[in-house]
Amino acid sequence: RRRVAILISGRGSNMASLIEAARSPDFPAEIALVLSNRPDAAGLERAKEAGIATLCIDHKAHPTREDFEKAMDDALKEHDIAFICLAGFMRVLTDWFVERWAGRMINIHPSLLPLFRGTHTHRRALEEGVLVHGCTVHFVVPELDAGPIIAQATVPVVPGDTEDTLAARVIVQEHMLYPQALRMVCDGTARLENGKVAFSRGWDAGGAL
Ligand code: GAR
Repeated sequence: RRRVAILISGRGSNMASLIEAARSPDFPAEIALVLSNRPDAAGLERAKEAGIATLCIDHKAHPTREDFEKAMDDALKEHDIAFICLAGFMRVLTDWFVERWAGRMINIHPSLLPLFRGTHTHRRALEEGVLVHGCTVHFVVPELDAGPIIAQATVPVVPGDTEDTLAARVIVQEHMLYPQALRMVCDGTARLENGKVAFSRGWDAGGAL
């Protein structure tokens, strides 16, 4: 089982869904560490309650982005981490860190990429009047929210939706999608090859082949 670290900044509901999935003995990853850049992240308590090792590396305690990331990288090495999941981690990472973890770091984003990179995705989806919205898991590359796509899930946008109702519909899908995507990268079903995701035979037809 591959040793995975989850990086969070907040409530950690995606983190909790990954921890839950990894409890299954046939899951190809174990959650070995939860790391937050914010001491007050609610997800830290949640991870401790689940018996997972936690660590806070406060970005504010580091003079530069590079210092902060070096501290994270050292901690990840100390914990013998093979793979990183970003789960509501709200710091932009430098090219140095991203390249160090190339092909070994994935992120969940609350939109159907390449639409709505960045923040306030649900508000912007409503403003644009899209009728289908959703979430994406992708490999992390230096450009923000631009990495090769591993998995997506969709939800309808319905009349009367607000940012909150739409976010609530999307997060349900996030909690199902992220464990599936982590499984795929940890068992080799989806790999980063020459800047694209290579899927194992059989997967590209939704597993039906
Ligand atoms: C999730 O909706 C996640 O997709 C989003 O933040 C939320 C974190 O919730 N991530 C981003 O916007 C990344 N740019 P959680 O802490 O409950 O998982």
